[in-house]
Amino acid sequence: MSRTLRILVVHGPNLNLLGTREPEIYGTTTLEEIDAMLRERAKASRAEIESFQSNHEGALIDRIQQAGSRIEGLLINPGALTHTSVALRDALAALAVPIVEVHLSNIHRREAFRRHSYVSDVALGVITGFGAQSYSLGLEALLDALRV
Ligand code: DQA
Repeated sequence: MSRTLRILVVHGPNLNLLGTREPEIYGTTTLEEIDAMLRERAKASRAEIESFQSNHEGALIDRIQQAGSRIEGLLINPGALTHTSVALRDALAALAVPIVEVHLSNIHRREAFRRHSYVSDVALGVITGFGAQSYSLGLEALLDALRV
């Protein structure tokens, strides 16, 4: 594989607070640390990570639309928008590249409203419940799907 693969990593609302936000649920690893870890791992497979976090649904959708055909894969933790946003789901459905959905917490072990995801059925797969490692596992799965 000679071409550099471009992977967009999207973090939804409140994930900028990782490290201090409900650490008993989300752990103590910061978003910067997660992004740095993903960049390192991607490098080993000649892939390039671009990360984007926003607390705003429209900003996330704009970024996904901009990425359009310029990326080969998408890793996303949609945060609470997982459970509420048809608009985010539609933006993801319009992408022609593989998508992996990740969550730090196990969304099936928590409140009932977290059990439904609007994103899962437009994703290749979902990794949920392994803390910051969910992102690493998600990236592995995405790279594997892209066969690098
Ligand atoms: C989350 C789970 C969501 O239910 C929650 O709203 C989040 C984070 C997770 O990574 O575990 O913000 O996506």
